[in-house]
Amino acid sequence: MRDDHDEADLRSRVARLSIEQKIRLLTGADFWALYPEPDVGLRRVVTSDGPAGVRGETWDERDTSANVPSPTALAATWDCDRVGAIGALLAAEARRKGVDVLLAPTVNLHRTPYGGRHFECFSEDPLLTARIGVAYVRGLQNQGVGATVKHFVCNDSETERMSADVRIDERTLRELYLAPFEAIVREGGAWAVMASYNGVNGSTMTESPLLRAILHDEWGYDGLVMSDWTATRATGAAARAALDLAMPGPAERFGPWGDALLEAVRAGQVDEALIDDKVLRILRLAARVGGLDGARPISPAPADISRQLRATAAASFVLARNERSLLPLDGSGPGGSGLGRVALIGPNAEIARTLGGGSATVYPPYTVSPLDGLRAAGLDVAFAPGTLGHLRTAAARPPWLLRADGSGPRADVRFFSPSGEMIGSEQRDAAVFRWMNGFAAIGAPEQVDRLEVSCLIQATEAGTYQLGVTGIGRFRLLTDEAVLFDETLTVRKGADVGETLMAPPVRLAPLALAAGQSVTVRLEHDVHTSPMAAFGTFFQLLLEPPHGTDDEEMEAAVALAAGSDVAVVVVGTTAEVESEGFDRTSLALPGRQDELVRKVAAANPRTVVVVNSGAPVLLPWADQVAAVLLTWFGGQEFGNALADVLLGEAEPGGRLPTTWPASEEGLPPTQPDDGVLTYTEGLFIGYRAFDRDGREPLFPFGYGRGYTTWSYDSITVDCDEANPAGVAVCVEVRNTGSRPGREVVQVYASRPDSAVGRPVRWLAGFAAVDADPGETVTVGILLPERAFQHWADGGWTLEAGTFALAAGSSSASLPLTGAVTLK
Ligand code: BGC
Repeated sequence: MRDDHDEADLRSRVARLSIEQKIRLLTGADFWALYPEPDVGLRRVVTSDGPAGVRGETWDERDTSANVPSPTALAATWDCDRVGAIGALLAAEARRKGVDVLLAPTVNLHRTPYGGRHFECFSEDPLLTARIGVAYVRGLQNQGVGATVKHFVCNDSETERMSADVRIDERTLRELYLAPFEAIVREGGAWAVMASYNGVNGSTMTESPLLRAILHDEWGYDGLVMSDWTATRATGAAARAALDLAMPGPAERFGPWGDALLEAVRAGQVDEALIDDKVLRILRLAARVGGLDGARPISPAPADISRQLRATAAASFVLARNERSLLPLDGSGPGGSGLGRVALIGPNAEIARTLGGGSATVYPPYTVSPLDGLRAAGLDVAFAPGTLGHLRTAAARPPWLLRADGSGPRADVRFFSPSGEMIGSEQRDAAVFRWMNGFAAIGAPEQVDRLEVSCLIQATEAGTYQLGVTGIGRFRLLTDEAVLFDETLTVRKGADVGETLMAPPVRLAPLALAAGQSVTVRLEHDVHTSPMAAFGTFFQLLLEPPHGTDDEEMEAAVALAAGSDVAVVVVGTTAEVESEGFDRTSLALPGRQDELVRKVAAANPRTVVVVNSGAPVLLPWADQVAAVLLTWFGGQEFGNALADVLLGEAEPGGRLPTTWPASEEGLPPTQPDDGVLTYTEGLFIGYRAFDRDGREPLFPFGYGRGYTTWSYDSITVDCDEANPAGVAVCVEVRNTGSRPGREVVQVYASRPDSAVGRPVRWLAGFAAVDADPGETVTVGILLPERAFQHWADGGWTLEAGTFALAAGSSSASLPLTGAVTLK
């Protein structure tokens, strides 16, 4: 913020505005931006999703975005410096795309692996979420781009997310779900918070008393509270709560503020002083991002994006199993002494699944699939998908998609007015279409009644292609002027907007083509039949080339594995399985992927399974395969990072930020009962529940192997009474293997004789160390005061006495023990 934008200056600007001007500022101007107000030097301030990349105002291939590894992956690095650097990279992206405020990070917790946005949140543990979140926010905001910490609070699952009322006890709310927000507001200094759709203990969050009582009064928050998109439901109640900005806008189209709020102020139902405070917070945010008086925003240094994303993805991969040290593979030459042919198997190996679904989706400039990455590393790779049956058909793409004149991968879009006049056109490089903020190129959405996409589809081989569309509304598909279908596709009644966007209905029609044959394709769409017609529409032109049945594909993959030196099977989910807008109902890998793994492993004992999902999936064959590498949604450099880790060019640096369960037993459900979602499990989520029940997960919280081994040699606990801020612990570890490596040293606290109910143990601090073979390193870890406090009777309290401490490499492997007595 510039020095001349001090509090007095900001307040004097508020005082210069009429009530009409002030109220106008409190609802967005459009889908992403706030209103400018030249009278007080306020320019248009732009917000944009999201956690895995900065989308910008256009949501398609014309405005690409660096796609960083999913937030679960960022947390799996347990590396605050690295995550801070990703924050700075996102800031540079934001400025490049004209964005001032990022709608991230998402710091809801992994209450249950079913949560649809699990991939978008960091961890099941509040301390790890807080540390990673603070680093992310500082990295971003130090470069002058605002963070929006979301979704405040208890939006930990998606089922009925717009209306569910979460019932939660005060202690669980404080110790788990509010804890990351508190740390990020207090230490990270977040400039914006997003109030969620759901309610907590009887009030919808945009009207919740928690906003003022906790954010303002307790935490001294001076930033802005915006609503989640369309979450503002009431005029007076939301205005009297500490909600400052209703998004999106304009008020005439969305949300209950605008004129209704003006009336409420005039009628004395909402005090004008409250309005002034909201406007002040908007101006403060604008000043911070360089949005006042023509101030030039900070220009963050452009990052070496590819290098940074590749290294970060590798640092997030969790090596969960590595029998007989199969990994790293010896890659000393294609067919050379070390490694012969690699059978790369699985549908996720060919199409890079680099992010989850929903508002966090961006269009990367490129993606590196595992197949691309392994080939680029010089390996002799043969690919077989193995199974395809579970996948939604992908959008038409090269080499099949061509421009109507045959000159390149193009689709031409033409827009028509209600009178049938052509009023605009776009040339597009992809067949995924999403207009969310009107049809910018050609004017107001109301003018567009119908649109047409035309392109050329060329067959690479003879066979039956499936051609079609996914979207909502009326679609007419024609090839060479013959109508394949003319249908209105409708969405499931009661579907959430996220589900509508990520998994709309699909209509396919078979099309027999000879090798090299091309057809002109025209897809017509009546825009006014789209549920998004108020601000645009969205759909994809789909194309599936010929392929074998699942049985045939599986047989081919198994034969390939049997005849190869090593088999790498990439299993996983997709953005349509893990998405905003709905929860998963099963943690099993979709389709026949489990069967594929078992058959491949039976055919080749040197089988490595790479799990490409943003959240835990069940791996019932885990002890039957030689190696398991958990790789999340790895961002655009996924395949290169995978090659680096498989070949040992990079260490698999990740440790689990969330427990990986062996079965679906005992996991908290996401389905509200009559609109109420009760967090009956209280404090016992993730490892806290497994430890209490004595249940063994498949892989415990904090776990991950790396390519070297470590001994934990000593722990010293130093409680400096002059420093009540925390307890200092020193842990000595030695790299006992033959490679340099990185270890995440974790310290857990427990209180066996506690007078209050507590988890068996909880994460109290952590630090990463790097060491060469044979090297001993001592790492200091400060355990914050809060790690020893619990919430009771309306405040934080310390139960005086002795806390046990344990240090090790995961919540289930804690060889060193110590204790600290606190008064
Ligand atoms: C999501 C938010 C997102 C917003 C704007 C909402 O549906 O819950 O996380 O920032 O849309 O895209």
